[in-house]
Amino acid sequence: PARVTVTTLHKMKREGKKIAMLTAYDASFSRVLDAQGVDILLVGDSLGMVIQGHETTVPVTMDEMVYHTRAVARACQRALVIGDLPFMSYTSPELALRNSARLMQEGGAQMVKLEGGAPQVATVAQLAHHGVPVCAHLGLQPQSVHKLGGYRVQGRDEAVAQQMLADAHALQEAGADLLVLECVPVSLAQHISHALSIPVIGIGAGRECDGQVLVLYDMLGISPRAPKFSQDFIGAGATIPQAVASYVQAVKAGTFPQDQHCFF
Ligand code: KIV
Ligand code: NA
Repeated sequence: PARVTVTTLHKMKREGKKIAMLTAYDASFSRVLDAQGVDILLVGDSLGMVIQGHETTVPVTMDEMVYHTRAVARACQRALVIGDLPFMSYTSPELALRNSARLMQEGGAQMVKLEGGAPQVATVAQLAHHGVPVCAHLGLQPQSVHKLGGYRVQGRDEAVAQQMLADAHALQEAGADLLVLECVPVSLAQHISHALSIPVIGIGAGRECDGQVLVLYDMLGISPRAPKFSQDFIGAGATIPQAVASYVQAVKAGTFPQDQHCFF
């Protein structure tokens, strides 16, 4: 099967075809997810929590991200692989370039992801200028959890919502190819998705986004405290490949997420 590319994703948005994305951290799951038609595999720094057992993503290092990205990329033929830039690995455009090169050259990623709005615009522009595809991430930014004081919905406040919309436009103009919105009220996520030409992937951001992403172990029902916005797709007796196939089918059909997974 032909590799999913930035061009494929943009075409899917234009044609109203939903994008199914999941996290993956190793070769075995990468192969299964790829075979079940997941369009994008995100090697997320959520691995700090679900693989390493930390309480946050803050302790994750570049070396760890490269290691997991390499394992996922090796086993994946169709899906686009995104490597996550961890906490403090993109504090300047130069550092971001150097670490993105590691994720792409050593890890085999086809895109990198970073968290943040206006403060990251110059970095996104620099990466784009050097041929690095970028996924931006607005709304709840887990790397800032200690500054935020917890994981909660972002953008209910009108001023924060306006800033998020402005940041989304600025990131797109700077050259971002994709945007993740995490824990954002449905109406704001819908507004941003319609306003942008790049695909917007939601997690706890409602059905109107151009695609959905979940943390793999949340949707397989093995996370001790799965967030409200996730769904257990294993249900009663499904195999892992069947659960992944149900997720892909639900995202494509627009039947996931439901209202109980959303913030209003
Ligand atoms: O690290 C991660 O898994 C993520 C997703 C939740 C978007 O950033
Ligand atoms: Na992440």
